[in-house]
Amino acid sequence: MPAYRTIDGIFLGDVEFWKRPIAERHEAFAALREETRRGGGMCFHEEVTVMGGDSAGPGYWSAVTYDDVRTVSRNQECFSSASGVISNDPAPEYLAVGSIIVMDDPKHNKLRRLVQKAFTPRTMAAAKESVRERARRLVAAAKETGGSCDFVEAFAAPLPLQVICDMLGIPEQDEEQVFRWTNVLLGVGDPEFVADISELKTSAMAYLEYAMALGAERAEHPGDDLSSLLMQAEVDGERLTPFEFAAFVVLLSIAGNETTRNAISWGMHLLTEHPDQRALLQANYEAMAPRAVEEIVRWATPVIHMRRTALSDTTVGDTKVAAGEKVVMWYWSANRDETVFEDAARFDIERENTIEMAGFGSGGSHFCLGANLARSEIHVIFDEILKGLPDLEITGPPERLQSNFINGIKRMPCEFTVR
Ligand code: HEM
Repeated sequence: MPAYRTIDGIFLGDVEFWKRPIAERHEAFAALREETRRGGGMCFHEEVTVMGGDSAGPGYWSAVTYDDVRTVSRNQECFSSASGVISNDPAPEYLAVGSIIVMDDPKHNKLRRLVQKAFTPRTMAAAKESVRERARRLVAAAKETGGSCDFVEAFAAPLPLQVICDMLGIPEQDEEQVFRWTNVLLGVGDPEFVADISELKTSAMAYLEYAMALGAERAEHPGDDLSSLLMQAEVDGERLTPFEFAAFVVLLSIAGNETTRNAISWGMHLLTEHPDQRALLQANYEAMAPRAVEEIVRWATPVIHMRRTALSDTTVGDTKVAAGEKVVMWYWSANRDETVFEDAARFDIERENTIEMAGFGSGGSHFCLGANLARSEIHVIFDEILKGLPDLEITGPPERLQSNFINGIKRMPCEFTVR
């Protein structure tokens, strides 16, 4: 394995690095991109053991430029997801829970096609009305608080949770429990959610058992939800095993919850910090919203990185990568690449090329399956908030999740006038 090499004392594998202010993170990645471009190639970073859990692995290459991230993301023949997609190697029992996101083609493609029809632009357009209904109820409930509440709790967390639970046919009374499980599964690194790594195992097992019971129930009494569809679908004449089904449910609910929640939270934070951008959006919502949504996801980059492992010797830009070595694609950095996004740290809903941003992945076969659903949720919630609570503002700093994987906000106060 290569020797560790970084610059300016930047340790991306260190949880402490991710607690620093966002502006410092921005500067660190700018320095790493400059080093790559200057001819230094990709840096090779040390892994850090998280909470005495999985032992630190041999390290990883950091793809930080927009082009390097794209190169890795689009070459699935050479770059595999099958040994995990986060920077540290997960224990084998957690890997199995990852479902399609930790599979390579052809199996990945076969299983992905099973759920794809639930996420087409057409089905998403149909789902938009139920998303709107949910969003309206959240605005109405917020009004009951009298004018101040926690934004994450009132809006950003419940909307994606309700939408994905609805799609999967998870009963309303179980939503809170699903929320707790997904918080733990993506909260490793933050002591508030995972004080001890064994909690991860307990939550993963409990959620899998729950999902297997849901699958068995839907196999006997099918409805019109995604769980029923998955239980009846066949791949090459075979049905999903109960475990495969359960892992799918866990992936969809994690992927659907922990990402969109943070895009919505960062979005409200950004609109508060940039009243000029907010005024532009409010003045002509339908015309401005599609670009604003892309810009929110670019700026927030709720999924900070994904990792691949090289199956054969190859090159990424000027860097030689040997078979077996890991490459982390820092979407966060690709989305701030100054050669692609002018004044990249600026929040600008009039950007022309936000559609090229890497927040949902950088092309390739694992590109976010729920991107259209997420866009729809973000579009609708801001429409309803800006119409129903037009002066809503964030009134305190975001309390951030400690993570190098999810750019999360745990809590953030807001105030508004009830009319
Ligand atoms: C703003 C919200 C979201 C963001 C930023 C986001 C981001 C991402 C990213 C970066 C990937 C990996 C792409 C790759 O490796 O090429 C991904 C994959 C995925 N996302 Fe999303 N996502 C969001 C919302 C959703 C929603 C609402 C769902 C629906 C349930 C969803 C389901 C998935 C699934 C199933 C995958 C794995 C696809 C595969 O492996 O083939 N995501 N997402």
